[in-house]
This record gives sequence, structure tokens and C-alpha cells, in this order.
Amino acid sequence: MSHILVLNGSARPNAFTAAMIRSFCKGAESVGHTVTVIDLCKLNIHSCIGCLNGSKDKEHPCVQRDDMDTVYVEFRKADLTVFATPLFFWSYSGLLKNVIDRLWALAEYDRSELIGRGRGGALLVAAGGSHPEPLYELFDYMMKRLAWKNLGKAALLHTDDMDMQDISECEDAYMLGASIGKREEP
Ligand SMILES: Cc1cc2nc3c(=O)[nH]c(=O)nc-3n(C[C@H](O)[C@H](O)[C@H](O)COP(=O)(O)O)c2cc1C
Repeated sequence: MSHILVLNGSARPNAFTAAMIRSFCKGAESVGHTVTVIDLCKLNIHSCIGCLNGSKDKEHPCVQRDDMDTVYVEFRKADLTVFATPLFFWSYSGLLKNVIDRLWALAEYDRSELIGRGRGGALLVAAGGSHPEPLYELFDYMMKRLAWKNLGKAALLHTDDMDMQDISECEDAYMLGASIGKREEP
């Protein structure tokens, strides 16, 4: 069984991305995985300054000292990472993209901390409209270049036409969670 880290890139902790995460967790836990969710909007994480000068200190891979250190600890504990995001301009939210950029400091410390090593990733996306395809393409490419197993994607579309008080179970997110492990079989 795997330990899964979910990075929640929504600025609204109780909106549609969060609903997808709840369903995903139920699915993953139903087949025995453990899950940790980090609501990035509750943390203080600065954007990458592009110094390419990290890796001096294992405990603090990045030169910046902020709540990214919490993410590094949880990322290192996890086998699999779920990138959960609202669709913003057909891409990741800024909250999540900042964290993805800051993960690079791990590779500066030791490439295998970020690249390969049996890691896997999945994508959850909540979109006001109906075109998550550009993000799907970006995510697929990211999995390929990181040499992670691509565990799949789930989307909740047309959220801008939905009532946030009445979010039901997200079947696709649940099924994605419940499929983790099964898809990895050769
Ligand atoms: C800055 C911004 C950019 C957005 N860009 C898109 C977009 O490119 N495509 C889309 O379908 N919806 C877009 N939306 C709508 C969000 O994807 C949608 O409201 C989503 O449910 C937000 O996630 P949340 O419910 O977790 O807050 C955008 C919303 C904002 C605030």
C-alpha cells in the first residue's frame, strides 16, 4: 500500500477542488492507502527566485526559509503525489505552480529525490468551464520528464455553473483514488 500526498492548490479550502480531494481520499483509503492533504493556501510559500543555488542542507533544500520546508518533509514521506488544482488560465493555479517550482531544490540536492525512484503522480482539476486539455498535456509531459508513473487524472467541469453548497460525490475522483495500485500492475 502507498502513502499519498495531495497538494491542494485551491485558494478556497472548501470549494470544488476540495470536494474532489475528499472523494479521491475516500477512494484511495477504501483500498488501503494512507493520504495526507496539504492545503497550500494555509501556508506561507514564496515563489522560486531562480537562484539554482539550493542543496546545501538536506533539511532545507531551498535557500528560502518558509513553509515549503513542511512540503519537503511530507513529499519525502510519500510514494505518490496528487496535484489538485483549480484550472486557472488552462494551467495549474499559482499556489500549486509555486510549489512545483520549489520542488526543484530537491533535485539540486540529489536528483533521485525528485526524479524517478518509483514515484507516481495524479492530477485532480476543477474547472469553471470545459477545457482542461492543455493542463492534461502539461501534466503528462511533467510525469514523463520526471520519470514518474502517470496514475491518471480526474476533472470536475463547469463548476462555475454549480452551487457550491451542494457538491455531491465526485465519482471520477473517487474512482481514480480507488484505482491507485491497480493501474501500476504490469
Ligand atoms: C484567475 C482564474 C482563472 C481561471 N481560469 C479558468 C480557465 O482557464 N478555464 C476554466 O474552465 N475555468 C477557469 N477559472 C474558473 C475556475 O477553474 C473554477 O472556478 C474552479 O472551480 C476554481 O476552483 P475552486 O472551486 O477549488 O476554487 C478561473 C478562475 C479564476 C479565479
